[in-house]
Amino acid sequence: MKTTAIYFSPTGTSKRGCVAIANVLQAEAGQIDVTIAQNSHKQEFTSDEVVVFGAPVYGGRVFKGLENRLKQIKGNKTPCVITVTYGNRDYDDALLELADIASAQGFIPIAGAALIGEHTFGRIQVGRPNANDIDEDITFAKNILKKLQTGDSNYLQLPGNRPYIYGAEGMKPVGFIPSTNENCTSCGLCAEQCPEGAIDSEDYSKIDENKCISCFRCIRSCPVNAKNMETAAYKNFAEDFSKKMANPRENQFFL
Ligand SMILES: Cc1cc2nc3c(=O)[nH]c(=O)nc-3n(C[C@H](O)[C@H](O)[C@H](O)COP(=O)(O)O)c2cc1C
Ligand code: SF4
Ligand code: SF4
Repeated sequence: MKTTAIYFSPTGTSKRGCVAIANVLQAEAGQIDVTIAQNSHKQEFTSDEVVVFGAPVYGGRVFKGLENRLKQIKGNKTPCVITVTYGNRDYDDALLELADIASAQGFIPIAGAALIGEHTFGRIQVGRPNANDIDEDITFAKNILKKLQTGDSNYLQLPGNRPYIYGAEGMKPVGFIPSTNENCTSCGLCAEQCPEGAIDSEDYSKIDENKCISCFRCIRSCPVNAKNMETAAYKNFAEDFSKKMANPRENQFFL
């Protein structure tokens, strides 16, 4: 079936699971990356296609700007797979919220997954999704194919609360605003790639604290390690949080 992976993925972990699943449904499935707000993502899908959505969990919810980014993407009773990726704490209401957003856009969620990815902060589940996680995604996708081929219309029930009860952390910035050190060559990559356009396009060391969502994309993508988050407050939080979140959780799949 014609398949498209649609993802918001500032540091690339949500993209990996989402694309791995999509590529089983169709070899070299299409991809729409909605990470950067300025890009146009207008697209309409038919009921003969499948879409796999992917996004990270932020404060137990999906990123607050995701609903708006997906407004231009329309389904026509198009079956879809909902995936959220989270950093080993919890996904709370995020999976249900992304399913609700997709449904409002004309998609029909037929499967869902809450996947483990390396946490943005600290050192939690570093390297995940790993090869074993991707194998699990592939097995899940094969089961989705069977469901699609047999026309199995099992009602999909996803965990979460309606109305959503999580979200305080996701609704307001967590306040970890990256700094820029003397390595900066003013290449401009971080400003181009910032999901919220928070980095000043004339002075790349200036970040609008009201726009920054602390996704750390600029830190991970800076070619000379100039962007960083090394304040004492962050380091203390990251050390403590990494200890608390050390026990690996499992991927969860819903069909
Ligand atoms: C602002 C923010 C809030 C987050 N909140 C949660 C959370 O509530 N639960 C959790 O397990 N992980 C949380 N994470 C970790 C991300 O969900 C995780 O690192 C994810 O893999 C990032 O996806 P990406 O690589 O596609 O950007 C949060 C990360 C950020 C930046
Ligand atoms: S990506 Fe790094 S080197 Fe390039 S402008 Fe941003 S901070 Fe400077
Ligand atoms: S400035 Fe903030 S929002 Fe922009 S990429 Fe960096 S951490 Fe993400």
